[in-house]
Amino acid sequence: MQEIPSGGLQHSRLHKANTWRCSAQPAATLSASQSSNELLFRAVETLFKFPPFFNFAVSQAREKIAERGRQIGLDFEGEVAALRGGTDWEAELRGVRDPDLVLPDYYTQPFHAYRDGNLCWEAALQVNAAAKSVHAPVMDPEGKLLDPEGDSQLRGSYTRNMLKLMERAGATRPVRDAVDLGCATGLSTLELQSAFPAASFTALDLSPHFLAVARHLQQQREAASGASEPIRFVHAAAEATGLPSETVDLVSCCLVMHELPRAATKNIIAEAHRVLRPGGTFAIMEMNPASAGFQRIFRNPFAYAAFKSTEPWLMEYISLDLPAELREAGFVSVLQAECTPRHFTMVALKA
Ligand SMILES: C[S@@+](CC[C@H](N)C(=O)[O-])C[C@H]1O[C@@H](n2cnc3c(N)ncnc32)[C@H](O)[C@@H]1O
Repeated sequence: MQEIPSGGLQHSRLHKANTWRCSAQPAATLSASQSSNELLFRAVETLFKFPPFFNFAVSQAREKIAERGRQIGLDFEGEVAALRGGTDWEAELRGVRDPDLVLPDYYTQPFHAYRDGNLCWEAALQVNAAAKSVHAPVMDPEGKLLDPEGDSQLRGSYTRNMLKLMERAGATRPVRDAVDLGCATGLSTLELQSAFPAASFTALDLSPHFLAVARHLQQQREAASGASEPIRFVHAAAEATGLPSETVDLVSCCLVMHELPRAATKNIIAEAHRVLRPGGTFAIMEMNPASAGFQRIFRNPFAYAAFKSTEPWLMEYISLDLPAELREAGFVSVLQAECTPRHFTMVALKA
């Protein structure tokens, strides 16, 4: 773990200096592939723009998630049906939706093999089960061994890294008020809460469907435990949280930036800086394009096109120089560590 200079490209490891600049990645990948593969990449991408191919890729991706779920002993369909049944979801949605919130254009398009992206019940009811399936192989460097606890391992690794990196960065401010940007159904918020049990949390998302599920699950947990949780789920954009300036000690952004165009990520970094108190921490967990796992995908035109068909802003994410953006926004002590063989944790402090 160490301070990250901009530029260069190395795979990140906990034990050695890790220099990561996303913007080096596509250039390196594409130039290496140029002679033999570039035309194939373009052809496959063009092919995926046609609805029949796109729909085929999407159905394959969904079937793979359900199949992998079965392999780890997860009753994917049963879990989703249990959540769906007996609840008036439209009423739940009315309880969380801010009718005045204008959704950005980049958000209102297909994501993750759902035609309505994050704005539908199918995605919202499946997301927790899908996380277990998708993250089952995440701790295996080859991406092959499936662990039913992969999702928890990934999240636990994030918060452990976050705490270590905060210490190394010299973050001394106690975390009393924290924000989870892009919280979905609250999995990332609950992990944060376990790392900072004395804090209060504001958890934001643009999807009222995800937030309806988040609130519903929260009510179930509160009914079971008899205690109310210090988590407030709010329908808002991460780039316009509505929170007063300098009122927060920690902002976390977990697995959100790969879903964003570059301009939105810059706006979110600026918003995190605005709401943080001096000395506060911005923590990020994301896919690491420099990792061997992602390199394998980028070398294979079909795997790449299939992945990109579910992540419309992938190339914008990859071309982002995240440490440089953080510094430009006024953050200091930008540190990074490997979270899984495919993900990194990054922290930065507000001076
Ligand atoms: C891949 S999910 C990650 C969710 C959660 N943080 C986790 O770790 O499970 C990305 C989430 O970010 C949300 N999101 C994307 N862009 C956003 C934005 N500009 N503001 C707020 N939420 C956003 C999506 O609706 C989605 O719930």
